[in-house]
Amino acid sequence: MTTMTPPRRHPGIVTLPPQPHEAIVQEYALEGGFIGASEADSPWVPFGESAAIRHLAFDVRQGMAANILWVKGGGRIGTHRHRGHVSAVTLEGSWGYYEYDWIATPGSFVHETPGTHHTLYSDDPNGMKAMFWLNGPIEFFDDQGTYLETVDVFWFINHYVTHCREHGLPINQALFI
Ligand SMILES: [Fe+2]
Repeated sequence: MTTMTPPRRHPGIVTLPPQPHEAIVQEYALEGGFIGASEADSPWVPFGESAAIRHLAFDVRQGMAANILWVKGGGRIGTHRHRGHVSAVTLEGSWGYYEYDWIATPGSFVHETPGTHHTLYSDDPNGMKAMFWLNGPIEFFDDQGTYLETVDVFWFINHYVTHCREHGLPINQALFI
């Protein structure tokens, strides 16, 4: 017989007074989640010739996905048009859009609005990494402006699940929030 040791309560944990509707909150609230930094939690999945995506969250109710985009030096992501709001914080390297004159570097914040379109590039020899929080679909076009495909939360799930199945990796259910 094994005995369970209850987790030690950290002295820094503060006990709050009950909130309004406390019993309902306890019954229906969902706990948040954690994705560790290791590729065991979420691997880099190749995205075209010069990029990879590390998926962090999929929310099929909101049509939302969160991930880290890694574009290797000299790479670009095809022209795309947003149908929802996107925000990004740069973690490493530098990047920009051909259509705008700013350059994003670590710590900078970008937000992109529905209806806008642009083409991402990274001339940085070290490429770039940025965390993106994506809402709604994104339409991709080729260099002649011909529509190619729509990238939405299901596209991101398919990208992740297909990679896991092809490489015999477990699917991390914590990504599905
Ligand atoms: Fe964009």
